[in-house]
Amino acid sequence: MEDYGRFFSDDVPAFMPSPTRELFKKVDISKIYSLAGGFPSPDTFPTGEMASIVSEVMETYGAKAMQYGGTQGVPELVGEICRRTGEAPQCIQVTTSSQQGIDVCGRIFLNPGDVVLTENPTYLGAIQSFRDYRASFRTLDEFRADPGSCGKVKFAYVIPDFGNPSGATMTLEQRQELVDLARRGDFLIVEDSPYRALRYEGTDVPTIRSLAPERTVHLCSFSKIFAPAFRLGWMEAPEEIIQKVYICKQALDLCPPVFDQYLAFNWMSSGRLDTNLEKAKALYRSKRDILLDELGKEMPSGATWTHPQGGLFIFVTLPEGCDTLAMYDQAISSGIAYVPGSFFFTDASHRNTMRLNFSYIDSDKIGPAVKLLAAFVRKMMGTD
Ligand SMILES: Cc1ncc(COP(=O)(O)O)c(C=O)c1O
Repeated sequence: MEDYGRFFSDDVPAFMPSPTRELFKKVDISKIYSLAGGFPSPDTFPTGEMASIVSEVMETYGAKAMQYGGTQGVPELVGEICRRTGEAPQCIQVTTSSQQGIDVCGRIFLNPGDVVLTENPTYLGAIQSFRDYRASFRTLDEFRADPGSCGKVKFAYVIPDFGNPSGATMTLEQRQELVDLARRGDFLIVEDSPYRALRYEGTDVPTIRSLAPERTVHLCSFSKIFAPAFRLGWMEAPEEIIQKVYICKQALDLCPPVFDQYLAFNWMSSGRLDTNLEKAKALYRSKRDILLDELGKEMPSGATWTHPQGGLFIFVTLPEGCDTLAMYDQAISSGIAYVPGSFFFTDASHRNTMRLNFSYIDSDKIGPAVKLLAAFVRKMMGTD
């Protein structure tokens, strides 16, 4: 048998491999300067404390930490999340990563052809997931201009705090405007917020969930406040939605990883999370500042970039005509990696943009990386 096509479901042709993961298969990032990827810094992981966290969990919970758990999540962790967020337990579901939270939204809300409204650019992993459910995409601006042309909108997917890839934060007015739009258009809002805790300047803006709890599914992640390897996140949503998520989760994985949840509970309730978060924020703030400084010094005029108040990314726009995707292999040969910005646009446009990550690269490598990047950009612009 060679052709298995006839066995696959009608969903499979819509599956989209992650272009970033495909791209990075070709590259050994340890051999070049990489501002690509979106990894947290390993310096923020509790490598030194992990042995004591594990032994505390084993002393307290023993075999229970290795057993199947309830579908919603272990009660200790659910309780701690409620304490910190002010949510009621029936409005919480622990997810096996926030990527799963995104995928579950696709699974419970989307029929083929339903429309998801997005910012442009938006998170690639969400485009990938919603596309698997055969959703169509429209931008929020398209909806504002002509709601009637947008088909059946089920939800708007937004990253209001330090977006991936834009680094942008929605103001309170923008959040309120989105809530009004959702109420008038009768759609839900999926508020994806894995970076919210990583603010380096300015003050917190209320979550969209706090403005419109009846319409908002709020997604959170432990990946950037603990470690991504545990694959843990959570969802805050109206009770009726959580009940459907709960049934969906039974079919997906029965329960979120129990051992990891106890580790996360220990991490949160012992105060370690808060202490570590302050250190992580200081590190990331300093890396962001170095990157912004170096871009200011090195980049040719005509290039612009965002100034994120938090998160892990800076988004760069080059003059029209530059093509960061077409030039990608040459960038790698020049010793520098970024993520082509067009990956984050649902119509693959804006080929003159790129996403830069500042969390993973060592601080002392940012300067040399930007020098290489700027030289490469000048070459793309034909001005070297
Ligand atoms: C906006 C956004 N949502 C969700 C995720 C997935 O996070 P997790 O590791 O919790 O699956 C990421 C990861 O980079 C992200 O940038």
